Amino acid sequence: MSKKVLVTGGAGYIGSHTVVELVKSGYDPVILDDYRNSDPSVLKRITQIIGYEPTHVVCDVCDQNRLEEIFKTYSISGVIHFAAYKAVGESVENPLKYYSNNIAGLVSVLNVLKQNPKVPFVFSSSCTVYGEPMGLKEVDENTAKSIPTSPYGYTKWLGEQIIGDLFISNNRLRMMSLRYFNPIGAHQSALIGELPVGKPNNLLPFITQTAAGIHEKLVIFGKDYPTVDGTCVRDYIHVVDLAEAHVKAIDHLLSLKNGCHEVVNVGTGKGTSVLELVHAFEEENNMKLNYTFGPKRSGDVIEIYANVDYAHSLLGWKATRDINDGVRDAWKWEKSIRNIQ
Ligand SMILES: NC(=O)c1ccc[n+]([C@@H]2O[C@H](COP(=O)([O-])OP(=O)(O)OC[C@H]3O[C@@H](n4cnc5c(N)ncnc54)[C@H](O)[C@@H]3O)[C@@H](O)[C@H]2O)c1
Repeated sequence: MSKKVLVTGGAGYIGSHTVVELVKSGYDPVILDDYRNSDPSVLKRITQIIGYEPTHVVCDVCDQNRLEEIFKTYSISGVIHFAAYKAVGESVENPLKYYSNNIAGLVSVLNVLKQNPKVPFVFSSSCTVYGEPMGLKEVDENTAKSIPTSPYGYTKWLGEQIIGDLFISNNRLRMMSLRYFNPIGAHQSALIGELPVGKPNNLLPFITQTAAGIHEKLVIFGKDYPTVDGTCVRDYIHVVDLAEAHVKAIDHLLSLKNGCHEVVNVGTGKGTSVLELVHAFEEENNMKLNYTFGPKRSGDVIEIYANVDYAHSLLGWKATRDINDGVRDAWKWEKSIRNIQ
């Protein structure tokens, strides 16, 4: 019988792609979401891709009693915890919203996990925990974490700390924090992708929305940074590669006899500047994008990309898609939701 993996936030951007990849690898995902930042219609779209309606429960992940029931009802064999808020700017304006959902949600899941210590656990962390890496561009898991620049960043920083502390108290638990770099793109079917609520925080949805005519132009923040072309550099990872990394993480944790708290970078290992991403979008999709330069934003890290050696040696995982795949799939997705030919 297929192992059931609880995917909290499974209706969201990364969660929905992970559900698809779990099914492809023979797992039986159970989606837990209350659709506060997603739309239930994603279930129909996932159904179209995987060929059956996935198991789904409407639940606030902070509701520990419900979570305990769900664990029992479905005999959960693994948990991937995506459910959280993710908008850096909003977290500065409303920090308690972020601390209550992101921290309380994690603690709620970990409390249930403590009672089910054989169940592996994967946590959505972020490269924001590195902050501005002092003098480094490429960061590995041993690079010192730095003081986060937002309450959102703190929730990931603290999340890893909470998991580490729990492991010290119970070293039978099998847990992994995946530090995502910058997810982009969409499923090649264009049936699922990123659905930003309001003005997008991330670059590529802003690019695709500008191309779709929703914004007049893209504003690039800063043009004289000490980088290849003066714009900030990030490590853009295709969301399907990222989803595959979660499956590898669950495979790995299930294969272990002993407990662990592993921390693993999930990126491509390659830095791409904002301008390079814009030009890749224009070339791949054969169109011109209206863009301009604006002032630098405070708190923006200048240049960061992942060292991905550990993901490769531990999980046997490597990104296989590049930014051209990402910009092509993101545009295909944007066109499909806007009915653009
Ligand atoms: N997208 C990124 O750029 C990025 C980068 C690094 C880390 N992350 C982390 O990855 C995870 C997933 O991100 P995403 O981009 O898929 O976000 P998303 O907003 O698309 O998905 C999150 C899902 O969780 C659900 N959710 C939130 N709080 C909930 C709660 N209390 N109970 C039940 N459901 C709840 C939302 O409805 C949504 O469907 C988040 O933890 C995020 O912080 C994202």
